[in-house]
Amino acid sequence: MDNNELRAYDKQHIWHPYTSMLNPSPVFPVASAKGVILTLETGEELVDGMSSWWTCIHGYNHPRLNKAITHQLSKMSHVMFGGLTHRPAVELAKKLIDLTADNLQHVFFADSGSVAVEVSIKMALQYWVAQGKSEKHKLLTVRNGYHGDTFGAMSVCDPVNGMHEMFTHILSQSIFVDAPACKPDEDWQARYIQDFEQTLIENKQQVAAVILEPMVQNTGGMRMYCAEYLRQVRQLCTQHDVLLILDEIATGFGRTGTLFAYQQAQIEPDILVLGKALTGGYMTLAATLASSKVAKGISADQQGVLMHGPTFMANPLACSVANASIDLLLESHWQKKVFAIEQQLKQELAPCSELNIVKDVRCKGAIGVVELHQPIDLYWMQPRFVELGVWVRPFNKLVYLMPPYIISHDELKKLTQAVYQVVTEFSERIQ
Ligand SMILES: Cc1ncc(COP(=O)(O)O)c(C=O)c1O
Repeated sequence: MDNNELRAYDKQHIWHPYTSMLNPSPVFPVASAKGVILTLETGEELVDGMSSWWTCIHGYNHPRLNKAITHQLSKMSHVMFGGLTHRPAVELAKKLIDLTADNLQHVFFADSGSVAVEVSIKMALQYWVAQGKSEKHKLLTVRNGYHGDTFGAMSVCDPVNGMHEMFTHILSQSIFVDAPACKPDEDWQARYIQDFEQTLIENKQQVAAVILEPMVQNTGGMRMYCAEYLRQVRQLCTQHDVLLILDEIATGFGRTGTLFAYQQAQIEPDILVLGKALTGGYMTLAATLASSKVAKGISADQQGVLMHGPTFMANPLACSVANASIDLLLESHWQKKVFAIEQQLKQELAPCSELNIVKDVRCKGAIGVVELHQPIDLYWMQPRFVELGVWVRPFNKLVYLMPPYIISHDELKKLTQAVYQVVTEFSERIQ
């Protein structure tokens, strides 16, 4: 098939994320990728501003990561995890336990972020059943959150913006409070936690756990908030005997400037969910870490077992590349690099805030967001970015960048200039 035939067959037969089969948005066949460059079947080269949905922090086709996979491939690509274990999984569990909060001592490997969120919910619910408090079966969360597309995860996504509104009537009913309103560098005010505190106190007999994305709410609006909010949430959860699940699937592995975003609040979650950049974007793998209190609490029940076990859990290829990706990250000057990306994003996206169409420009770590007053037109905007030689995937009212950490100053400049140009052209088009 040539490029046009590939596109035509794809258009007719393949569902892409959140797309229609009657009026699909355009797709661009990629032939190869290296560093921060995606090479299309047409030969066009695009600078990647998305890290393939925030995963490939070291860029594409990295020799160390390639080697980790091929080395493992020559031994075994997969074995079942029921009754068997293997070095890549044990080594990865040790790395994750060593790198995260001291209380997190137990790891469940899942095969995608959404499934790892399901597991975190199941852990929380099972924990309370095992404690003889099965009435604690609800989840409390903040609006504007996003935790995945499976049914448990959907039940804690924003009920309106979370893309799953049509399922609201069949989802488990979670309890929602206002999204965190304090901006990252704003002075703390008691009113910021009022809705959360009041709702938690009113419902504490039924609430098993609070779940949220620390410091940055991602797909639910790319909203950034202050560390004090998290500290208050932690304290209230402890005070009212509710577990705290932090979903770091998007923020983990350095994206917000610290290895894990919760570290900015100096707190410890009861359950932590990791995914996306865990394998440096090479393979699908996620992990749910639990404290000894939760893990032993679940196991103390009559059944004594955590009721989950996907076929491909702890896939050895994925664990091997995750081990290599974490080593690579820790050996690099990632913190300096993420800080430099943040400074450049702040400086080069700032002119966007002068455009009438722009509501807000905000940056944190290697995340730069331009929020518009109105929804973007993906059918026009996506091909326009490609014409300019960059890969940027806007959604709703948001045009944002989350580049690989290895991006050079000039490559990032190409991305920020393209964002400014496309947002300017969009504002002219809609006048
Ligand atoms: C915070 C958060 N949680 C969960 C998920 C779901 O992960 P996955 O797409 O791997 O199922 C995502 C995906 O974007 C996410 O950003």
